[in-house]
Amino acid sequence: NIVEFYKGFSALWLIFYLSYSIPEEMKRESLIGNIAKDLGLNVGTLSSRKARIDFEGSRKRYCDIKMNTGDLITLERIDRESLCGKKPSCVLKVNLVLENPLELHRVSLHIQDVNDNSPKFRENLIEMEISESAEKGNRFSIEEAHDADIGQNAVQRYTLEKNDNFILSVTSNKVELVLENKLDREKQKEMNLLLTALDGGSPQRSGTVVIHVTVLDANDNAPVFSQAVYKASLPENSPPDTIVITVSATDADEGLNGDVTYHFGHVSDDEVNTFSIDHKAGEIRVTGVIDFEESSSFEMRVQAKDGLGLTSYCKVIIDVTDINDNAPVIYLKSLNNPIPENVSPGTEVGIINVQDRDSETNGQVRCFIQQNVPFKLVPSITNYYSLVTTGQLDRELVSDYNITISATDEGSPPLSSSKTVQLSVADINDNPPVFEEQSYSAYVSENNKPGSTLCSVTARDPDWRQNGTVIYSLLPGEVNGAPVSSYLSVNGDTGVIHAVRLFDYEQFRSFKVQVMARDNGSPPLSSNVTVSVFISDVNDNSPQILYPAPEGNSFMTELVPKAAHGGSLVSKVIAVDSDSGQNAWLSYHIVKSTDPGLFTIGLHSGEIRTQRDISESDSMKQNLLVSVKDNGQPSLSATCSMYLLISDNLAEVPELKDISYDDKNSKLTSYLIIALVSVSTFFLTFIIIILGVRFCRRRKPRLLFDGAVAIPSAYLPPNYADVDGTGTLRSTYNYDAYLTTGSRTSDFKFVSSYNDNTLPCLFTVLFFCFVFSYFFRKLKLNRHFAIHYMDCLCRVN
Ligand SMILES: *[C@@H]1O[C@H](CO)[C@@H](O)[C@H](O)[C@H]1NC(C)=O
Ligand SMILES: *[C@@H]1O[C@H](CO)[C@@H](O)[C@H](O)[C@H]1NC(C)=O
Ligand SMILES: *[C@@H]1O[C@H](CO)[C@@H](O)[C@H](O)[C@H]1NC(C)=O
Repeated sequence: NIVEFYKGFSALWLIFYLSYSIPEEMKRESLIGNIAKDLGLNVGTLSSRKARIDFEGSRKRYCDIKMNTGDLITLERIDRESLCGKKPSCVLKVNLVLENPLELHRVSLHIQDVNDNSPKFRENLIEMEISESAEKGNRFSIEEAHDADIGQNAVQRYTLEKNDNFILSVTSNKVELVLENKLDREKQKEMNLLLTALDGGSPQRSGTVVIHVTVLDANDNAPVFSQAVYKASLPENSPPDTIVITVSATDADEGLNGDVTYHFGHVSDDEVNTFSIDHKAGEIRVTGVIDFEESSSFEMRVQAKDGLGLTSYCKVIIDVTDINDNAPVIYLKSLNNPIPENVSPGTEVGIINVQDRDSETNGQVRCFIQQNVPFKLVPSITNYYSLVTTGQLDRELVSDYNITISATDEGSPPLSSSKTVQLSVADINDNPPVFEEQSYSAYVSENNKPGSTLCSVTARDPDWRQNGTVIYSLLPGEVNGAPVSSYLSVNGDTGVIHAVRLFDYEQFRSFKVQVMARDNGSPPLSSNVTVSVFISDVNDNSPQILYPAPEGNSFMTELVPKAAHGGSLVSKVIAVDSDSGQNAWLSYHIVKSTDPGLFTIGLHSGEIRTQRDISESDSMKQNLLVSVKDNGQPSLSATCSMYLLISDNLAEVPELKDISYDDKNSKLTSYLIIALVSVSTFFLTFIIIILGVRFCRRRKPRLLFDGAVAIPSAYLPPNYADVDGTGTLRSTYNYDAYLTTGSRTSDFKFVSSYNDNTLPCLFTVLFFCFVFSYFFRKLKLNRHFAIHYMDCLCRVN
């Protein structure tokens, strides 16, 4: 110990100054110094002089004096820091008081610092929160460590435990952590840094503090997808709500910063309506219609976003897989409709295109048509087929076809569709008209009415419309030197054959004409048929008696020998009939005879024979009235008279004239003459009267009859003429012709042209005409004569 010793004196008081320097923190009763010795006092006197230590103020008693040794010892541990704090010098002033005489010694105790305090941080643990976004170079102040010691014993330096991020910067009185490497919460969420403060004492003391750094999260991590590209395959027609794929992204940040939501990035409008994404779960679902044929794949960007808006993207590729959901569609690209029936086999009729929107095998189509038609499909370029004929077509057999084209794809299950093509076969004039019969025969009775129907021919032509329209015509030819058309006409439309004129069996009995049936095609086809017309006899000819000659000319007389026996041939009536058959089968009868029973006539031979022997009593002149009848229905007859003279000598013959007419005949003739004369007279009178009346009245002359009753001068109607040279009369003409027959005289005109006066006259004339015609009929007079007469009469009228 270094003891400083001061001695001093005052005016009144003998004051000694003693000074000791002691280290602090000495143990109790450590020796500070020997005061007795330093003061030069006798140890024995200390107690006698009542040496004591006084402290200024109310200080603790840090030291005391040992009486027996005079040592100043510490009573208590002296802590410099608590006495003096940070004062650089720490002096504890005590007074040593001696009595007898009162002596005061001032003792200064210089308390020396001892490194007894370690540097000390206010806390053991410093909590710090530093955002990971803190920049390099950022400084964070740390409260300094405190060391109660001073000087060298105070804190001299700091050390920081080695770490990755921070270094220590200590300037005059600032301790700072300097961020050297950026923090990453995601690597290290928190760290403990051990900061040590060291003092300069010896031995050196230190104090540490743990700096607990919590790294605060910054949104420095974008979400990260588990895959950059997600691929999914999705069958088309997947129902809505099907989960296609789930994307997931993680964000290393925490809390809001790590809260990932998912969104579609840029997608087309279609895709927006087709898919939806669950923002939280990242599930992509179907919301719309998935049609492979519309789009076979989707490529979308999905965005993952954390709470504060950091984003990242991934790609989602959805491949749509095809389902066989489209049936093939058959398109008729072209069709030659109708097709002529004469096309050769192998002609292309139409082109068919088949489309199936599905792909691969689902879109592979087989195409075929039904079996029973003369067509086939020939595949040409992909999915195109030619419809080709396989055989000869015949419109007359099958005029139209319904061709069913079926198409089936190869999907599973396969889909198919069909289309029916209606194909008509167009007509070609390939069939000539064919008559229903090989030949035709017409039977007509003579004296037929002109225009009457003889027969009809029919030809069929199975072709279409004009190609099958049959027109009939007569082929030109001659019958008996006259053109056929003057005999017959054929209705071009109906094939009905009419007689043009009256036929006379006696002129010809049959003839043949050729009728042609021609169709209207171009060129036309035709066929011919023979029509045989057979005219049948009508009993229109009376028997003609050749012998004896008709009455009037010469009176032939046969001589019958007187000695003739019964049965001997006397004479023969010879008659012919220009009719034929029954109509010409003549039978002979004796109508009247002078002596009935004397002669018979052979019914069919006309031979006159005696019935018995001639006797003397028989009259010499025998007259026979023989009637010759034919066997027609009704039968016609002629009569003749046969004069027989029973004599062996012609000289005996008397005058024969008076037997020429029989009474009845001469009577009738007389009646006729009388009647004619009287009628004529009456008629002349009548005319004269009328003329007289007219003249007297001096009336304006007027035509009495302007609408004459014309008796047709011919049998043929005036309009009845050949129309097309072949004797063919079209129906319309025929019709007209028949209508106009006789229509020149109109009944109305007739009536209107008569006045009151002329009517009675007319009736009178008509009455007489009637009477005469009756007579003439009765008399069986020549009709022509009567008609002629009446005709004249009427014309005069
Ligand atoms: C074709 O089809 C049409 C309409 O379905 C039908 O009227 C016609 O008779 C059919 N033709 C044939 C030849 O089957
Ligand atoms: C008739 O046949 C001809 C060919 O011979 C043809 O050109 C024409 O179209 C046919 N007419 C009808 C109406 O079918
Ligand atoms: C029909 O007869 C006419 C005239 O003789 C002739 O030109 C034509 O070829 C004949 N037609 C047939 C099919 O024989």
